[in-house]
Amino acid sequence: MFAYPEDFDLAGRMSKLAREELRHFELVQQQLASLGVRFRRLSPSRYAEGLRRALRRDEPGRRVDLLLCGALIEARSYERFTGLVERLPAPLAAFYDSLAASEARHAGLYQRLAARDGVPVAGRLAELAAVEAELATAPDAEFRFHSGTPA
Ligand SMILES: [Fe+2]
Repeated sequence: MFAYPEDFDLAGRMSKLAREELRHFELVQQQLASLGVRFRRLSPSRYAEGLRRALRRDEPGRRVDLLLCGALIEARSYERFTGLVERLPAPLAAFYDSLAASEARHAGLYQRLAARDGVPVAGRLAELAAVEAELATAPDAEFRFHSGTPA
């Protein structure tokens, strides 16, 4: 939204997405409060930094890569939320199930935006997906939602 504000269609779709994500943030805050869990600030993850390093620097590649990374992050979130659903008690399971459905939808949106105007993305998506999968599955010193296996 802020990286490409001149792209009216993209910025508008990202604005709607941001509102939905902020609503999810508020719902998570409510869950934390009702469960008596205090919010704790975490250091940035290896995952996000690793994806950022994989981005191409020049346009239009950078824009495509940002959108494809968005799709991969959302798809990984879907996978992890879905994994939580079967292990959580009923009220939380339903909540995470609804978040998982949103993440799946967001993944599709990012991928469609990357491929907008007939831009071919399959090859680059496969390259970035390999980077992302390594980050999400390799041993990781920090335990995070998108981290790899605990080292
Ligand atoms: Fe999302």
